[in-house]
Amino acid sequence: MTSLKSALFRLSPIARRVLPRPVQRFLLLRVLRTNDRYASMAQRPSRLCMEREILPWVAGHYRHVLFVGTGSYTFHYERQFARGQYTTIEMQERNAVWGAPDHIVAPIEEIGRHRPDGAFDCVILNGVFGFGVNTREHQRVVIEALHRALQPGGLLVVGWNTDVHDDPESLGLYDPYFERCREPPFDRRREFAGETHVYDFLVRRQ
Ligand SMILES: C[S@@+](CC[C@H](N)C(=O)[O-])C[C@H]1O[C@@H](n2cnc3c(N)ncnc32)[C@H](O)[C@@H]1O
Repeated sequence: MTSLKSALFRLSPIARRVLPRPVQRFLLLRVLRTNDRYASMAQRPSRLCMEREILPWVAGHYRHVLFVGTGSYTFHYERQFARGQYTTIEMQERNAVWGAPDHIVAPIEEIGRHRPDGAFDCVILNGVFGFGVNTREHQRVVIEALHRALQPGGLLVVGWNTDVHDDPESLGLYDPYFERCREPPFDRRREFAGETHVYDFLVRRQ
């Protein structure tokens, strides 16, 4: 069963091309029960904060939002946004099934090849530092790309794990591109008891 599951889980490249996205999602979620393994993660306070506080607030205050990194537990985020408001980007082609109708298959550092500078007024980068973008040098390249992708004054939300890598802010990686957001409700780092996941809120400098 496990090998059948893993074979099907990847849905062959042909199936990915010919099956409509809703059918692929149905197979993955209802037949292969892809999300079962994420059930406890979905209930963590940090995840609930993303879904119940950050995303609704962002949807109500920003016009063009980019969400980086898609998975079977993030596909429903698109429901919180109006048509044309929400774009996703993910480097792994097989995760495109979890992307928004406006989805880009590419590494985030190449966003400039796919959208003009200043195309977004908010970027949510959650669980990407430490899960693919791991070194300081790589994080710096991504921060520079996000500075170009965002409009001046745009919001950058960075979700990261304090036990996985050093604090990019303490290392000065955001300088001179971003400064800490000073406006409520996101004028401080969000931390969660018993978790290492935190959210930082940064504003793009001119
Ligand atoms: C731990 S998951 C986080 C998914 C999601 N952003 C969330 O809120 O949970 C990390 C995802 O980021 C993707 N990723 C890693 N490095 C990336 C990069 N440079 N550009 C785009 N996606 C990347 C991985 O393929 C993976 O799907």
